[in-house]
Amino acid sequence: MKMLMLFAALCGLAMATPFDQAAYALQETAPMGLVDELTALGYTKLVGLIEMCVLDFTESASRIPHELFYSIDSALTHQTDASNLFLSRTGPFTIFAPNDDAIAVLTPDMMNNMTLLVNILKAHVIEGKVMTTMIRDNLMAGSLLKGVQIRINMNVGWQRTYIAANGAQIIMFDKEAKNGVIHGMNRVIYPIPMGSLVDAMKMIPGLSATMKLIEFAGIESALTGEGPFTIFAPCNNAWMKIPYANVTALMANKTALTELLTYHVAPGAWYSTVMRPGTVIPTLEGKNVLFNPMTPEHLRDVKPMPVYLYVNDAEVILADQSVANGVIWVLNDVITKPSYLPK
Ligand SMILES: *[C@@H]1O[C@H](CO)[C@@H](O)[C@H](O)[C@H]1NC(C)=O
Ligand SMILES: *[C@@H]1O[C@H](CO)[C@@H](O)[C@H](O)[C@H]1NC(C)=O
Ligand SMILES: *[C@@H]1O[C@H](CO)[C@@H](O)[C@H](O)[C@H]1NC(C)=O
Repeated sequence: MKMLMLFAALCGLAMATPFDQAAYALQETAPMGLVDELTALGYTKLVGLIEMCVLDFTESASRIPHELFYSIDSALTHQTDASNLFLSRTGPFTIFAPNDDAIAVLTPDMMNNMTLLVNILKAHVIEGKVMTTMIRDNLMAGSLLKGVQIRINMNVGWQRTYIAANGAQIIMFDKEAKNGVIHGMNRVIYPIPMGSLVDAMKMIPGLSATMKLIEFAGIESALTGEGPFTIFAPCNNAWMKIPYANVTALMANKTALTELLTYHVAPGAWYSTVMRPGTVIPTLEGKNVLFNPMTPEHLRDVKPMPVYLYVNDAEVILADQSVANGVIWVLNDVITKPSYLPK
C-alpha cells in the first residue's frame, strides 16, 4: 500500500537525469535473482549476511509479527537456499546494498548479534522497484523493518547527480535483477534510523551538554515534531571551549540561549553526501550556516590534501546520522555567527 502511494507520488516525475556513466558500467542484459546479481557484482559480504540471516529468519519465522515480513518469512520457511531470500509473492524489492568495504566496518560484536544483523538487513530493503529516475528529493519509503523508513535524498548536479539513502551515498545505480533492483552504497545505514532527534541525542553521552541546554531553553518540542530537521549538535568538548562567562550569560538569558541553539538546527534533511561545498543552509533561528569543507591551514602541504567538513568554522566530527525525523551531525565547536554570511 505504501509503495502504491509512493508510485502515485512519483508519477509524472520521470526525468532524464545525467547520471554518472561509470555507475552503469556493469549493466547486463539477462538479469538473475537479487542475490545472484549481488554475488556477480562482488557484494559478497552482504550476500554472506543474507545467508546468515536466512537461518535466523527460518528459525524465528513464526515469532515475527509484522505482516510485511510474512512474505519473506514464508518464502524462507520453505527455502533454505539464500538465493531465494527475495523470491516472494510480493516482490519486487529494492535493495540498498552496502559494498564489502562498508560491511567490513561492522564490529565483531555486531556480526555476532543475529537480531541486530537481521534488523540492519531489513532496514536496507524496501518493497517495490524504485529506479533512480523515480526518485525525488526527500522521498520516504518504508523499509522491511517495522517503523523504519529509508529517506532518499537527491541533488542534481551539473556533471553528476548525488543520491543517498539515509545519508549513505549511492555509488552504483539501478542494477536490475529479475525480482528487483540494486543500488550500491559505500556505507551501511547504521545506527538504524529509529526514534526522534531527542530520543537519539539522549542516548549519546557526548551530547549531554547540548541536550541539557535544549531542555533548559524549553525547545525540545521543536525537535520531536514530524520534521525533518537537521541538528548540528556540539559535543560536550565544544561547550567547554566557550569561555565560562559566556555560558553563564547564556544560562541567564533564555532568549539568547534559544537563538544560539536554534542556529544549530536547520529545517530539512541535510546530508554531507549529497551537498555541494558552499551550500548555504537556513536555520530555525533565521540566519544561515555554511557547509564549508576545507583543508585546515596546517595540513595544506600534505599530498593529497585532506579535506575536513566544517559548518561555518565549526569542525564536524560525524555527519549524516539519520533518525526518524531528521539528521544528526556532531560538531567539535559551537557554531558562531560570522558576519560574512548572507541574511
Ligand atoms: C543485539 O541487538 C539487539 C537489537 O539491536 C539488542 O536489543 C540486543 O541487546 C543485542 N544483544 C547483545 C547481546 O548485544
Ligand atoms: C563571549 O562573549 C563575548 C561578549 O559578549 C563575545 O564577544 C564573544 O564572541 C563570546 N565568545 C564566544 C566563543 O561565543
Ligand atoms: C537577552 O538576549 C537577547 C538576544 O541576544 C538580547 O536582545 C537581550 O538584550 C538580552 N537580555 C538581557 C537582559 O541581557
